[in-house]
Amino acid sequence: MGSEKYSDSLRNKRVVITGGASGIGLATAIRFAKEGSTVTILDNNVDQLHSTLKEYPLIAHGVIVDVSNPNEVKHAFEEIDSLTNGVDILIANAGVSVRANFIDITPEQWRKVLGINLDGIFYTSQEAAKRMLSQGEGVILMTASTNGLVGHPYYADYNASKAGVNLLARTMALELAPMIRVNTICPGYVLTPMQKAEYTPEMLKKVDEKIPLKRHALPEEVANLYAFLASKEAAYITGQHFPIDGGELA
Ligand SMILES: NC(=O)c1ccc[n+]([C@@H]2O[C@H](COP(=O)([O-])OP(=O)(O)OC[C@H]3O[C@@H](n4cnc5c(N)ncnc54)[C@H](O)[C@@H]3O)[C@@H](O)[C@H]2O)c1
Repeated sequence: MGSEKYSDSLRNKRVVITGGASGIGLATAIRFAKEGSTVTILDNNVDQLHSTLKEYPLIAHGVIVDVSNPNEVKHAFEEIDSLTNGVDILIANAGVSVRANFIDITPEQWRKVLGINLDGIFYTSQEAAKRMLSQGEGVILMTASTNGLVGHPYYADYNASKAGVNLLARTMALELAPMIRVNTICPGYVLTPMQKAEYTPEMLKKVDEKIPLKRHALPEEVANLYAFLASKEAAYITGQHFPIDGGELA
């Protein structure tokens, strides 16, 4: 107890990160790999996954999977079993957003966003939790959003999915304690490919002006919080959500 560094408790941990080929997931994969963890990234973008593995040889493995498809998720975890023989830490992070007026959201768009952002987290968490329960311990962390805590216009489906992630995590934390800790991170605005795809430079500037810290978060800053929450330093933290938002919600 007490004097260990994060790196001592993350070394050799088998870490699975969904949406690990880009943005927050990629920054988190790099951070855990630098801590000495054995990192497997899961993503449905084949080209991006291959180029990431090539560019960052510290990341041990990559598995192609659409997290919204329960059969694909089941097979992906069987592949992870053969690669690393279990999972110690899951970062369920893959997500998408589509900017649209509530009144224009089609059933297809609703299903797509909820299917990836909420169903995907459920499927991957359940597969990981089965393995962690048989191992006797584990940590499950999820990327929700400040959009899962307060309303933001033009993202009704996304916001509903992220609110669902927060309460899924709390319920899992109750059922899976004391073996498995479960928490979510709620980023505000993070400068990632997702964000750059939906916001023009003018929109980004406007957002920065209204954030107390006057800028977007870096993906690496979210990765720092993931490293802390997965480490032994956070051994008494479960069933919580952690905004990292530059003061936005304050
Ligand atoms: N960027 C932000 O401002 C912000 C803020 C709050 C929360 N988030 C959340 O953070 C997470 C990561 O977002 P990001 O900004 O890094 O985005 P990103 O687009 O850079 O990365 C998302 C990754 O998820 C993958 N992915 C998408 N659909 C998938 C699927 N069906 N199966 C497997 N992989 C899939 C993509 O290929 C991509 O590699 C998301 O859950 C997002 O909602 C982002």
